[in-house]
Amino acid sequence: MKDQIINLKNEAVGEILEAKSLEELEKIRINFLGRSGKINSLIKGISQLPAEEKRAIGQLINDTKKTIEESLQQTQESLKIKESKTEWLDITAPGLRPAEGHLHLVSEAISEITAIFSQLGFHRARYPEVEWDWYAFEGLNMAENHPARDEWETFFIDKLQNKKYGRGILTPHTSSGQLREMEKYTPPIRMINIAKCYRRQSDVSHSPMFYQFEGLVIDKGISITHLKGTLDFFVRNYFGPERKIRIRPFHFQFTEPSFEVDISCGLCQGKGCNFCKEGWLELGGSGMVHPKVLKNGNIDPAIYSGFAFGWGVERTLMMKSGLKIEDIRLLYSNDLRFLRQF
Ligand code: DAH
Repeated sequence: MKDQIINLKNEAVGEILEAKSLEELEKIRINFLGRSGKINSLIKGISQLPAEEKRAIGQLINDTKKTIEESLQQTQESLKIKESKTEWLDITAPGLRPAEGHLHLVSEAISEITAIFSQLGFHRARYPEVEWDWYAFEGLNMAENHPARDEWETFFIDKLQNKKYGRGILTPHTSSGQLREMEKYTPPIRMINIAKCYRRQSDVSHSPMFYQFEGLVIDKGISITHLKGTLDFFVRNYFGPERKIRIRPFHFQFTEPSFEVDISCGLCQGKGCNFCKEGWLELGGSGMVHPKVLKNGNIDPAIYSGFAFGWGVERTLMMKSGLKIEDIRLLYSNDLRFLRQF
C-alpha cells in the first residue's frame, strides 16, 4: 500500500507539472482529489488494513494529498499569469504614456533671471554651498564678533576648520560669491551668482534652504546710476513694464552706501492697498561694494568701483503678480498637488 501511495504522488505531481492549461489542470485535480478520485479510493481502503498500519498509512495519504494540493496551487498561479498575458496581447492597443513632469517653479525662475541678466552681459556663476567663514563674513567686513552677523542665522560645521579661512559653514547668503569671483577674475566683472543658501529659520516666509541671486559689477567708474539702471531693467523685464523700483538707505557691512530695494505693488500699481499697505514691496539689499571688500578681493579701490545686490529667488518669484503662494515652504514640500498647478 505504501508503494502504491508513493507512486500515486509521483504520478500526480508529474501530470500537474506537464499541464498546459487551467482546464487541463482542473481535470487532473478531479482525477486525484475529486469525490470519486484516486485519493478517496485509497482512503476507503484504510478500513481493510490491520489496526497497527492504519495510523501510518492514513498519515501518508494525508501528506500526499497536501503535496498534490500545493503543486496544483503553484501551477495554477503560473498558468493564470500566462493565460492572462495571452488574453492581453493586443498589439494595436495604444501604449501607456509615461508620466510627464515639468521644471520646478524655482528652476524656471532661475532660468528666467539668468536670461534677463545675460542680456546685460552678466555671466552665471555658482559658488560653494559649504563655505568658509572668510567668504561669507570676515572678508565681507564682518569680523568675528561683529553684531551685524546676527542677521544671518548661520549653520556652523563643527568638524570643518581652516587656518586661513576660519570655520566651515553652510553659506547663509550668495554674497560669499563676491570674493570668490574677485579671486577668479580681474575687472571688468559682471556676475550673477545663483545658489542655495541656508539659515536656521522656518515659517511661512522662511525656509531653512532657499535660493538667492547675487549680482556683482566691478569696473572703472561704476556708480549708483548703473546700479539703479540695472535693477530697473531687471524689474521691468521680470515683473512687467509698468513696475517701478525705488531705493532706500539701509546698512550692510559690505556695501557703502547700502540700499534696500522696493518694487511698486502689482495689485494697486503703487497707490497703496491691503496687500502692500503703502504701494511698495521690499525686494532685497544692494549697494556700492565697500572698499575693504574690494581690497580683500585683491582689487584696488582707487582704480575700480562696483555695485552688488542680493535677493531671494523664492521671494522675488512670489511677488510676481498672480502668484499667491501663502507658505514659502510649499515650494519644497514635493507635494504634486501643489506643483502640478504651475
Ligand atoms: N547678502 C544680503 C542678505 O542676504 C543681501 C545683500 C545686501 C546682498 C546688499 C548684496 C548687497 O550684494 O549689496 O541679506
